[in-house]
Amino acid sequence: MTTAVLITGTSSGIGQATVQRLSRDPQLTVFATARRLSSIADLADTGARLLELDVTDEDSMRNAVLSIEAEQGSVGVLINNAGYGEYGSIEEVDLDKVRREFETNVFGLARLTQLVLPAMRAAGQGRIVNVGSMGGRLTFPMGGYYHASKYAVEAISDALRYEVAPFGIKVSLIEPGIIRTGFSDVAASSLSTSGTPQGPYSALSRAVDKQLAGAYRSGLIAVGPDAVARAIERAVTAAHPRPRTVVTPAGKSLVHLRRLLGTRAWDALLRQQYRAAPVTGSRPSLDHPQ
Ligand SMILES: NC(=O)c1ccc[n+]([C@@H]2O[C@H](COP(=O)([O-])OP(=O)(O)OC[C@H]3O[C@@H](n4cnc5c(N)ncnc54)[C@H](OP(=O)(O)O)[C@@H]3O)[C@@H](O)[C@H]2O)c1
Repeated sequence: MTTAVLITGTSSGIGQATVQRLSRDPQLTVFATARRLSSIADLADTGARLLELDVTDEDSMRNAVLSIEAEQGSVGVLINNAGYGEYGSIEEVDLDKVRREFETNVFGLARLTQLVLPAMRAAGQGRIVNVGSMGGRLTFPMGGYYHASKYAVEAISDALRYEVAPFGIKVSLIEPGIIRTGFSDVAASSLSTSGTPQGPYSALSRAVDKQLAGAYRSGLIAVGPDAVARAIERAVTAAHPRPRTVVTPAGKSLVHLRRLLGTRAWDALLRQQYRAAPVTGSRPSLDHPQ
């Protein structure tokens, strides 16, 4: 009997690389999922089974889990990977967009977890691997709402790990640093449309955009998605998987640096990074109308 692995968001990037890696393991039956089946047609060549799954849609999540359970008894491993970054200033980002981001990054992850747990508990074993971010351990300006979603994933993972351990279920959190995937294009496009061109945060937005683009291009900082797929593979197959894994050397250094520096020194470091970003529009007063 193989172990059924359900992975979300496999049309590109980390999810796709994870399907390619895990499909080589004869002990696993990999269920690659995406919002549009056409976007993962190529993954059929890996031997993975393909299912439609939108993590913001209750019926879609329920149907995917039920169909795996009907065939395999239970989902043996759930990999909550689907996610994206809604970037922009805290003041200007449309909160409906933030709600949509949380539906995917947080509530989708939480609901799928709820759906797979009863059968996992009955089986007395299972694994849940959540793809968080180094951005769940530190925050960059103009990314506040994305970071908030990944901080939420940290808290959910920590509570869940303790709650389900008595049922033989292991929970791992993977915290990628800068990974070359479709993520940066989605983040950059949301950043560029989040505020007005001459608005109060436009200079900061340009500085952050430039820095993000540089980081994703850098051979020192950014790595390909297979590095994360390898960490996920260890979380799926190791006898005693690590509860938390930061992926990329640069990501590990940044998380350590954030912890060492404390809040004021971290802010000073960020000010130095974005010093080319003068305040443009008028400074809002405390009684500024909403
Ligand atoms: N790349 C990085 O630097 C980085 C760093 C830290 C953490 N992460 C995290 O890694 C995870 C994977 O991102 P990635 O870097 O591989 O980016 P990516 O290449 O853009 O992949 C994101 C995946 O999520 C899917 N998705 C988005 N909304 C969805 C929904 N409602 N239902 C199902 N799938 C949905 C996308 O599918 P569609 O094709 O249908 O849009 C896509 O397959 C995310 O959770 C991200 O936050 C990435």
